[in-house]
Amino acid sequence: CLWIRGCGQKKSLPGPFPWPLVGNAMQLGQMPHLTFCKMAQIYGNVFKIKLGTHDIIVLNGESTIRQALVKHSAEFAGRPNFSSFKVVSGGKSMAFGAYSDLWKTHKKIAHSTLRAFSTVNTQSTKLLEEHVAAEVEDLIQVFLHLSSGGEYFNPFYECHVAIANIICALCFGKRYSHDDQEFKALLGRHDKFGQTVGAGSLVDLLPWLQSFPNPVRSLHQSFKDLNIEFFNFVKDKVSQHRKTYNPEITRDMSDAFIGLIDYGEEKVLSTEYVESTLMDLFGAGQDTNSAALTWMILLLIKYPHIQKKLQEEIDRVVGQGRMPTAEDRAKLPYVQAFIYESLRLSSFVPMTIPHSTTSDVIIDGFYIPRNTIVFVNQWSVNHDVNKWTNPDQFQPERFLNENGQLDKDLIHGVMIFSLGTRRCIGDQLSMLQLFLFTCILLHRCSFHSDPKEELTMNSTNGLTIKPLPFGVSVRARRLRRNQEI
Ligand code: HEM
Repeated sequence: CLWIRGCGQKKSLPGPFPWPLVGNAMQLGQMPHLTFCKMAQIYGNVFKIKLGTHDIIVLNGESTIRQALVKHSAEFAGRPNFSSFKVVSGGKSMAFGAYSDLWKTHKKIAHSTLRAFSTVNTQSTKLLEEHVAAEVEDLIQVFLHLSSGGEYFNPFYECHVAIANIICALCFGKRYSHDDQEFKALLGRHDKFGQTVGAGSLVDLLPWLQSFPNPVRSLHQSFKDLNIEFFNFVKDKVSQHRKTYNPEITRDMSDAFIGLIDYGEEKVLSTEYVESTLMDLFGAGQDTNSAALTWMILLLIKYPHIQKKLQEEIDRVVGQGRMPTAEDRAKLPYVQAFIYESLRLSSFVPMTIPHSTTSDVIIDGFYIPRNTIVFVNQWSVNHDVNKWTNPDQFQPERFLNENGQLDKDLIHGVMIFSLGTRRCIGDQLSMLQLFLFTCILLHRCSFHSDPKEELTMNSTNGLTIKPLPFGVSVRARRLRRNQEI
């Protein structure tokens, strides 16, 4: 049982009444984060639900989540002992693995290597920038081709290939053409991943659903198949790297991990961690940023006056004689405000990966025992009416102060990369990528909606939520003296 302590009398944590066998599974709905926001209004920021036989604590609101993930970071750094988590990255995933001393070493190596290949200094940032610029150039050509004759197309798949190519090149020194059907199919299957491991997925919580044919069982089977397929893709790349490994030349992150893990002095991690770390990075890097980019394109066409204002700022600061670069960031506050507002409004990772408690802990006065599953509702922070004015409206200006500069305090209030010990390690890489994609795309093109289509913020469900398919048409901008013609 989960109890509140301190008033002399034990009181159970609040939460909805659980039904036998299923608990509160039938109440979750398609969008558990929205259901949890409604429940938080009734029960408060910490409440308990039951899924199958599991007690689950749901955390909502910035102060409660900060208290848990920052003040009690080690106590909330665990992952539930779910069977699906053990399937990821050959059973040696850092993102889905249990908290331990070995895990700390694993995360440190993954984080420092990712930074070394992306944002650690000016040289690595420059290399990444060249890479992203080439990938956006390719994407623009594909967009223009798909829009020829005024056609409208769903941009998600092409965004996914472009984003996946960037992390694929960092991991394996290889990119794929937008026509490569095998690569597209591999990426296409990744949706099943997020649907299985996202908070509120019933795959691990109602194991008896595995015993007869139903959508949850087939989802679990697809999840296992896609993990094997992804892992084989990664294993194949690493095996080619091992055959040609030269300690004098580090071609990409595969070489870096081989150097650190296979040949490193500290033998904390066994050699299979090379493949598992690369699979974690490849998986996390493509699914998230492709969702972000697709949301941003949707918002650009839903709010054409904002798109125009962004182009005006880019034209004024960058002009037509050169490409936008990372160094322009500080001079483009409206572009940055647009990105933060897109992340806030879409909250496309609405719940973190499920956590679990590593020891007994007290939050907001409630006692939570060790090994309790914890869902963290990031959406509740980004849509909190006490924190944001009109949180359901898209207003990039909210992040600018009276001098038109980015309000640093407010941007830190957007919660999308989580907090504390389990915080995402791809935050800096992602923010840089999204900045470069936004600037280069808008510098070169305009995005237009289909007048016959009503654009909504409705989404798919899962760990990362994506817009439902929508149509966009892309036109090259022809500029004369900074005027679009
Ligand atoms: C974990 C968000 C991009 C690597 C996470 C988590 C979130 C998140 C919410 C879960 C944290 C938790 O459970 O508390 C995002 C968003 C991204 C993004 C919004 C893009 C805008 C990336 C990229 C990479 C990456 C590009 C790597 C290339 C990871 C890893 C973890 C993680 C390895 C597991 C961390 C751990 O368990 O300690 N991310 N992510 N992410 N992310 Fe990201």
